[in-house]
Amino acid sequence: MSQSIYPPSSEFSAKAHVSGMEGYNALYEKAKDDPEAFWGELAEKELFWFEKWNHVFEWNPPFVKWFAGGKTNVSYNCVDRHLTTPRKNKVAILWEGEPGDQRMITYQELHRLVSRFANVLKARGFKEGDRAIVYMPMVPELPVALLACARLGITHSVVFGGFSAEALKARIQDLDAGVVITADGGWRRGKEVRLKDAVDESLAGCPSVKDVIVLKRTGSNVTMKEGRDHWWHDLDATASEDCPAVPLDSEHPLYVLYTSGTTGKPKGILHTTGGYLLQATMTMKWVFDLKEEDTYWCTADIGWVTGHSYIVYGPLSAGATSVMYEGAPDFPAFDRFWRIVEKYRVTTFYTSPTAIRALLRQGDQWPNMHDLSSLRLLGSVGEPINPAAWEWYHRVIGKGRCPIVDTWWQTETGAIMIAPMPGAVPLKPGSGTLPLPGILPDIVDFNGIPMEEGREGFLIVRRPWPSMLRTLWGDPERYKENYWSRIPGIYFTGDAARRDADGYYWILGRVDDVMNVSGHRLSTMEVESALVRHPAVAEAAVVGRPHEITGQAVCCFVTLKKGDYDPAVLGKELRQWVAHEIGAFARPEEIRFTEGLPKTRSGKIMRRLLREIVTSNAVTGDVTTLEDMGSITRLAAQHDEE
Ligand code: PRX
Repeated sequence: MSQSIYPPSSEFSAKAHVSGMEGYNALYEKAKDDPEAFWGELAEKELFWFEKWNHVFEWNPPFVKWFAGGKTNVSYNCVDRHLTTPRKNKVAILWEGEPGDQRMITYQELHRLVSRFANVLKARGFKEGDRAIVYMPMVPELPVALLACARLGITHSVVFGGFSAEALKARIQDLDAGVVITADGGWRRGKEVRLKDAVDESLAGCPSVKDVIVLKRTGSNVTMKEGRDHWWHDLDATASEDCPAVPLDSEHPLYVLYTSGTTGKPKGILHTTGGYLLQATMTMKWVFDLKEEDTYWCTADIGWVTGHSYIVYGPLSAGATSVMYEGAPDFPAFDRFWRIVEKYRVTTFYTSPTAIRALLRQGDQWPNMHDLSSLRLLGSVGEPINPAAWEWYHRVIGKGRCPIVDTWWQTETGAIMIAPMPGAVPLKPGSGTLPLPGILPDIVDFNGIPMEEGREGFLIVRRPWPSMLRTLWGDPERYKENYWSRIPGIYFTGDAARRDADGYYWILGRVDDVMNVSGHRLSTMEVESALVRHPAVAEAAVVGRPHEITGQAVCCFVTLKKGDYDPAVLGKELRQWVAHEIGAFARPEEIRFTEGLPKTRSGKIMRRLLREIVTSNAVTGDVTTLEDMGSITRLAAQHDEE
């Protein structure tokens, strides 16, 4: 298949932080040859330190420390240091609520809000080393709460507002948190998500929680428990605006973020201070090419790592104006994203392939109703982006002018690892392109032997990087086992990938999603992208199911674009289509048409559930991360097998 290549325009390159392949290569080689000098110089130049570190990094596999002995503070770097610069009156957070309410918070105002709330926490007795759970809607007080915790050295853990009381309880208990910061509720598709009710339900089994601080967002009725529950505005009203940031060790735990593992128990990924912030800050420049005049918007939820690094810590440390939106992309209509882009003259837009595909499906009339000419750079994260979605994003949203940065990283990596520097690296749709400076990935087989060009293998990372996870909260053994034992001493990403003749990385998905059909290795993602290239297909999810002759058989769940189809005819056509696109061995055994796919709140298709459905037509286990439980029931019911 011929591959389109999109080199950066000379206009974009001329103004970029890093220009041309020479610019990229020089940085990459420098970081590779002398990581201590490379990261040490950047840390000194890009961050504020109360005291300098002893060593740039100390590597005792699999545990690493970055800038240990150095004293800094993430909240100081994200807020205070801008106050002595012309940024002091720049908008830091440009917020829009789902009902249409707006707030524009400057760096000076953010400083006041953060200092006051830090004093609220201090007055309740919370201090360095304590833990806070944050369970809030996407309102400015959420980053304020995080920055207030960081200011005092309280380790925070954000629990996404879509998680249930049960999931919340498990996280509070695992973290042994002393305080829960929440709200009465938030808005999602015009309905209230009642957060305080879920907190009340979860707290029955959580004796560690002494205080619950409740922001009034929706104004609905909530129960306040005397002595335990306090309104944010009551505590905040009398708090002083003077709260100096505490100098903390560079390895002080900044946050824990829980993510799904292969077992039912979520893993608490731990990120620390100096190294994390440095890589989050640098990637704002390298990947998003951040300029003083940009209006940058990451559409993620702060409940996920993308929101931590690219709504809160990265943009604020880099002094950006960052848009934050509370609600759903399709509320009240499918043009909400494009309406916001037009209204605030957004220049940089970062979203997920799932969102792109969902909006693509609704047709070009929605983006075409708006002036999107302010955009100069687009980004994608979280899953491989299929060529059709990439082309649409490029043509209909970016009008062919805007580079697309496809950013590969994970909760565990803390910041972007593989992505194009948009003024330097030519793009290939569907590839994250090349690793960033200081990142040494490779593709290897089971024994850790590097794969030849073009061959699929495990994606690994050879050298520790600044924003690497430090451990799993309370479970260093699981940390070693999960990430460092598959290929001893080397970070195992859990992803399959291949590298082409230009050294570009192509992520093929999780290795637990790899099928083996008649002795052929076949990525579920490969079949999915073949299916979505078919004009009738909107989305597809593929899983392997045990098959007595071929080992595994390919089983596909397919949602269709609008139109009239005969399932029997189309089923046959799609099987033929996949055989044609990949090879006869990949011909799906089964195609199931469905209205929706079961997804986590962050938009990832839950293949584990689909595997269960195709294996037994029943679903068990932990389903607390589901967006739409109804879709599972429908899937099981609409079984269409040839
Ligand atoms: O499989 C990769 C996929 O998402 C996984 C990480 O998920 P999570 O920790 O939830 O973080 C998502 C946001 C950073 C990876 O192991 N993934 C992430 N970005 C990409 C991707 N797959 C392909 N292309 C990407 N750009």
